[in-house]
Amino acid sequence: MRFLETSEVHGALLRLRKGGHSIHPSVKIDRNVRLRVSEKGRLTIEEGVHILQDSWIIVEEGDHLVLGQNVFISQHCTISGTVTIGRDSLIAGFVTIVDATHVFDDSTIPVNQQGGRKEPISIGEDVWIGTSSVILQGVNIGNHAVIGANSTVTKDIPPWAIAAGSPAKVLRYRKR
Ligand SMILES: CC(C)(COP(=O)(O)OP(=O)(O)OC[C@H]1O[C@@H](n2cnc3c(N)ncnc32)[C@H](O)[C@@H]1OP(=O)(O)O)[C@@H](O)C(=O)NCCC(=O)NCCS
Repeated sequence: MRFLETSEVHGALLRLRKGGHSIHPSVKIDRNVRLRVSEKGRLTIEEGVHILQDSWIIVEEGDHLVLGQNVFISQHCTISGTVTIGRDSLIAGFVTIVDATHVFDDSTIPVNQQGGRKEPISIGEDVWIGTSSVILQGVNIGNHAVIGANSTVTKDIPPWAIAAGSPAKVLRYRKR
């Protein structure tokens, strides 16, 4: 589904609700957001979520994608697969969060014939992910963490950490 105008957004969200997905009536979805949701996947969007223009939310068969209360997703983000984003988290523009990777163990056949692997991603509450960052499959980011701009997060990040770089490393911890 691609959303162009408010009435279309409204209709599309109604259709998703009828399909059994949980979309809170307060959610705000801007123009040109795409929600590609399989009938065999599950999408949960809680109260107060706002998704800015040109972002993509992709839910395939067997996935459960959850955007918790007051999650803010800025423009041009891609969020795909079994991904949970906890309440009050901020995702800056051009961030990619995808739970899938390609298998490339067999050197005798092309990578595109070897299939893929999915590992769920969990992002805690009150997390801020800086612009243009990439969060790889299987990563858990703890509550209250901050991820610097242009980071590639390949491993778990503890709660309250400020991490940045490619691969992302903890720079320090937020004051509590
Ligand atoms: C991660 C961040 C929050 C850290 O801010 P800070 O605490 O003020 O950190 P500093 O600027 O003091 O930097 C500390 C060190 O980390 C490095 N660093 C900071 N941000 C970095 C980043 N994104 N990637 C790699 N290294 C980074 C600095 O170069 C510095 O290194 P040094 O000690 O060798 O000089 C900030 O740099 C950042 O990336 N913010 C995201 C901004 C953004 O995405 N805005 C979009 C709109 S929401």
